[in-house]
Amino acid sequence: MSQLHVINHPMIQHKLTIMRKKETGSKDFRELLKEIALLMGYELTRDLPLEDLEIETPICKTVAKRISGRKLAIVPILRAGMGMVEGLQTLVPVAKVGHIGLYRDEETHNPVVYFCKLPEDIQDRLVIVTDPMLATGGSACDALSMLKERGCNNIRLMCLVGAPEGIERVQREHPDVDIYLAAVDEKLNQNAYIVPGLGDAGDRIFGTK
Ligand code: PRP
Ligand code: URA
Repeated sequence: MSQLHVINHPMIQHKLTIMRKKETGSKDFRELLKEIALLMGYELTRDLPLEDLEIETPICKTVAKRISGRKLAIVPILRAGMGMVEGLQTLVPVAKVGHIGLYRDEETHNPVVYFCKLPEDIQDRLVIVTDPMLATGGSACDALSMLKERGCNNIRLMCLVGAPEGIERVQREHPDVDIYLAAVDEKLNQNAYIVPGLGDAGDRIFGTK
């Protein structure tokens, strides 16, 4: 069973509250999302393995630690997942970035794929899928399936706000994928928007409405 990690650090909760407010504009919304992604990334990478490395400081030789094991890839679900990439890149500058383009059909709420471009060696990497909103879970589940079809077997899903319906769906369809969230909200409304949520994340990031 996949694990659900709710990263409810006070700094993250405070920043998320500002993002939720309807009067928060695109510039602040983007900056806060970037900052939260970095803070969440810090927790998401907490269990990465370390190995010893012999180095020489200006004073003496010593053995220090460096991250070992798989290299990372960040895969945002377009569009809104893009808003979390820069924060993670600040933390892991050498991570490669792939893109999966999905949008929810406005009537059926089912995801439609329109783009997929991934690093060639994606199957050898620890993949962090980003998307601020986990609503029905349809987009996340489709993105995870696309990655698995390409051989990925070490994937983590990083979202900002999740609805119970979406969390359950990801856990049911992808029990091997751990989910990282800043908040679990109450429910979905009749348009499959998260309540209380923060509205349409893509529109708020890019100012399209
Ligand atoms: C939003 C969001 C997720 C998806 C979540 O994207 O960024 O990708 O909806 O909903 P789900 O869990 O029910 O699939 P949207 O389809 O609005 O596209 P956009 O990011 O281009 O605005
Ligand atoms: N997509 C969003 O951007 N917001 C929601 O609440 C649900 C799906």
